[in-house]
Amino acid sequence: MSQRKCLWGVALSAGQCEGAYLEDGKGLSLIDTLDMSKERCFKRFPLPSKDQFYPSHEASDFYHHMEEDLKLMKELGSHCFRTSFAWSRLFPSGLEEVPNPKGLAFYDRMIDLCHAYGIEPIITLSHLEIPYALYDRYGGWEDRHFIDCFVRYAKCVLEHFQGRINYWITFNEINCTQHFPTVVGVGVDRAEHPASCQYQALHHMLVANAKIIEFGKQLDPQMQIGCMIAYGPIYPLTPDPQDVLKAKRQERENLFASDIMIHGEYPFYTDSFFQEEGIQIERLPEDLDLIKENRIDFLALSYYNTNCATIHEGEQSNGNLFGGVKNPYLKATDWGWQIDPIGIRIMCNTLAERYRIPLMIVENGIGAKDEAIDGKIHDEYRIAYLKEHLLQVEKAIEDGVNLIAYTMWSFIDIISASGGKMSKRYGLVYVDRDDEGKGTNQRIKKDSFAWYQKFLQERR
Ligand code: BG6
Repeated sequence: MSQRKCLWGVALSAGQCEGAYLEDGKGLSLIDTLDMSKERCFKRFPLPSKDQFYPSHEASDFYHHMEEDLKLMKELGSHCFRTSFAWSRLFPSGLEEVPNPKGLAFYDRMIDLCHAYGIEPIITLSHLEIPYALYDRYGGWEDRHFIDCFVRYAKCVLEHFQGRINYWITFNEINCTQHFPTVVGVGVDRAEHPASCQYQALHHMLVANAKIIEFGKQLDPQMQIGCMIAYGPIYPLTPDPQDVLKAKRQERENLFASDIMIHGEYPFYTDSFFQEEGIQIERLPEDLDLIKENRIDFLALSYYNTNCATIHEGEQSNGNLFGGVKNPYLKATDWGWQIDPIGIRIMCNTLAERYRIPLMIVENGIGAKDEAIDGKIHDEYRIAYLKEHLLQVEKAIEDGVNLIAYTMWSFIDIISASGGKMSKRYGLVYVDRDDEGKGTNQRIKKDSFAWYQKFLQERR
């Protein structure tokens, strides 16, 4: 396993920052239909209603501020930029044979600018931007038709950007099929047996992932293709062996998809797990061959928090994707996500031991209620968060972990995925826009911008 130098940078996702949700031929994405209600991640999406406001439709208007934002990214000194292409901007209904030229032109300009500024692009192919028309027609990833439609889109962009994009991530948080199925395009609401539907969908995504790797490697053997999971270690709350067992089981569920993509086969516990849960899915022999022969080059991760598992009573905590029991040793953000910098080092070491392939942390950051006072944003809490987490990330590298990139979440303020609002802000750069859509879209560098700029300079 060769050790590459780590790229340090920033991240965004198309559906959360671009806006222009129906402009220049873009089709409606699933994320465009999410309102601001609490159930938004679990219900079936109706078409957007005229009586409701959807902050994501304009988002941070990156579509019209892309040049300005990339100039700021250059000023920051970011080594790399992780974002996504919106599938529905390129293939508006998901069924087209050729891409939308205006969508392609936009991403051409973006990638060209990255190169002009010495920023390495890392592109995710699917980050909640699933064409609504496809979802409406087939129900979701549990339908095999999704594989061909997604692979057609992927082949088109891999070919088009060949030599200009070295790092591809097929899916954002592929294990979300287990946690937030509807958002990632799994039609659990129509399913007779939701768990079977979720695992069938995951299987199809794994087949699509393998097909894309097969194609990409034929196109250019140097191309690096990875996939992403959401992860945070699960600690047993007590030394009670029952708690340890419970934590282990939850870990397995979170690592199920990455086990398959890295080891090339379904893990040994699959049958007993499926039996216990009554899960029945179709796995064709040719699917399993594809998965065996086409493994990911690196594992990408989002890290926001850890959780505890116990069979005893415990106060529940929130978290990025996984709920759990509160850890009494940790503080939490305004949204109740517990802050655990050492957890990021534990995560890196756990995954390095288990997988022995390069890792990328492509999301890590703090959502907060930033306020602009006299044109300044003093986000010392974000500086503290980054400082503590980056210290532990560097310790993980010293431990010997092969980390090839770290991209903090997020470069500019964007729409929160779970809440649909602007007011949960993650950026180094403030975007003047509120939950009602008021504001000028002006970009203002927060104090954390200067702090991270120095960090990046020191690692050039
Ligand atoms: C990750 C997603 O799960 O968490 C991002 O990949 C998301 O899209 C991030 O923004 C933070 O979650 P939230 O709900 O606070 O935006």
